[in-house]
Amino acid sequence: MVKKIASCVLISGTGSNLKSLIKSSREYTFPLKIKLILSNNNKAYGLRYAKKFNIPYKFFNSKNKNLFERNCLKELKKKKIKILCLDGFMKILSKNFIKVFGNKILNIHPSLLPKYKGLNTHKKALLNNETYSGCTVHFVNAKLDSGSIILQKKVKIIKNETENSLQKKILIQEHQLYPKAIRLLFR
Ligand code: GRF
Repeated sequence: MVKKIASCVLISGTGSNLKSLIKSSREYTFPLKIKLILSNNNKAYGLRYAKKFNIPYKFFNSKNKNLFERNCLKELKKKKIKILCLDGFMKILSKNFIKVFGNKILNIHPSLLPKYKGLNTHKKALLNNETYSGCTVHFVNAKLDSGSIILQKKVKIIKNETENSLQKKILIQEHQLYPKAIRLLFR
């Protein structure tokens, strides 16, 4: 029996990467078991996957970041969570929160980091006439999208590419890349 590591996915929105992680985690050899889903948005579409796949989930309001993090930590401790995977989680975690998990927090970002940190990555890549963009799985540290890179996937930008078409192409790659990076890390 493969001993899976108890993990939690933090979301704020659609959660299509969450869906792909849930699917992977149901494979026998995948190193993580998703035991909890946390959201700072009670309307996050991704929460539907928690319900559909019967995974415990919690919503905590993040207006007060301190309180939000305390609530999360309590829940994470209760479930003995060892790894956090961020997926479109729109809140920057504090240094203290990150310290609790060391380098056990992962994130996926829709650009070839260190290029285009933060929001509007596709727009920035197009404005800069890039020939490639892509996605990155990286460790989370206290600086936005700046932790060490685990794995990246390049995506070619074609003539007449739009923000929308690029976003779609990259998201498809993200769904492959996140589980692949996790397998690589914990093999
Ligand atoms: C993805 O593009 C991810 O890289 C970024 O936010 C988006 C989330 O998409 N951090 P989804 O919620 O997984 O559909």
